Amino acid sequence: MPASKSVSECGSAENNRSLVDLFSRTISYLRLSLTDRCNLKCLYCVPEEGGLPKLEQEDLLSYEELLRVVRAAVSLGMTKLRLTGGEPLVRRDLMRFVKQLAEIKGLRDIRITTNGVLFEQYAEELRAAGISKINISLDSLKPERFARITGADCFAQVWRGIEKAQAVGFAPVKLNMVVMRGVNDDELADFAQLSRDTALHVRFIEFMPIGESSRWHKDTYVPSDEIKARLRDLGELIPVHRSETDGPACMFRVGQEAKGKLGFISPLSHHFCDRCNRLRLTSEGMLRACLLHDAETDLRSLLRHGGTDEEIRAALLAAVRSKPQGHRMEERLKAQEGGCHGRMSRIGG
Ligand code: 5AD
Repeated sequence: MPASKSVSECGSAENNRSLVDLFSRTISYLRLSLTDRCNLKCLYCVPEEGGLPKLEQEDLLSYEELLRVVRAAVSLGMTKLRLTGGEPLVRRDLMRFVKQLAEIKGLRDIRITTNGVLFEQYAEELRAAGISKINISLDSLKPERFARITGADCFAQVWRGIEKAQAVGFAPVKLNMVVMRGVNDDELADFAQLSRDTALHVRFIEFMPIGESSRWHKDTYVPSDEIKARLRDLGELIPVHRSETDGPACMFRVGQEAKGKLGFISPLSHHFCDRCNRLRLTSEGMLRACLLHDAETDLRSLLRHGGTDEEIRAALLAAVRSKPQGHRMEERLKAQEGGCHGRMSRIGG
């Protein structure tokens, strides 16, 4: 349901200056999509025909603009940041930006989500610049299939990136696999075994209906409960206490001896809206309070028309207070209202 309490019901002026939303969730985590550009064309992002229209350089927030937003967010109490895209590593001069972010006092945790294609070459620099953790998207362990899903024959390159990430000390290295029936769901056991035999953390993500171009279909979507059931032959999935670094994933080990962990991210079947602690900034500078709701606030106009730091803080606080209680996507799909229209490449996942 949309927010039903009014701001005044929510209490004191002090409350209205804090990052606690109308449903008592503390919003401490900001995700920045640095660019809509990507060096892959994954089938869940890019339409079958015509490709994706690209933003112009001037449509993107500059690093200076992004730094203003992050400083404002941190001054309000945000402590965690994730850089996403598109593919964040294709944005020019990223290291300079990461170093500037790392200097912001109060920002404790800067992470990145990447497709891994360029990771091998940047791994050391990113670590030195202040990135604490990484997630790498990997939807197949089969090179040919990887090429079909992503449009690029570079599985080996991504795999080298994963190994390099471990070698330079990122721990844990998390792999995100979007599970799609008939596309890669025959690899569930292989991915689960990877989390048993190596220190990698594998997370199965339910396919979400995002973007008009998404090839999401109810038949392609595999709910987490089904994934778990299909892993039964591997033995017991031992629940692991959720740690601060697990985000929305429910974590398990595939047997007592497993070196890594296996996670399930179930935005549709077991949504975690009651624990949501995020705000997103799209690559064109729109504040988005919920991944699966298209409502956005135009922060870019504010930044480019003389908005003060106080006004930026006010916009962030207003976005926090506008967070819906839950995304209701399953109900919306049942009512055939469709998915959300925003493009994943601009929202950043
Ligand atoms: N459904 C689920 N996950 C998605 N991702 C991208 N598009 C979708 C989708 N439609 C994943 C990416 C990345 C993470 C941030 O989100 O693979 O790993």
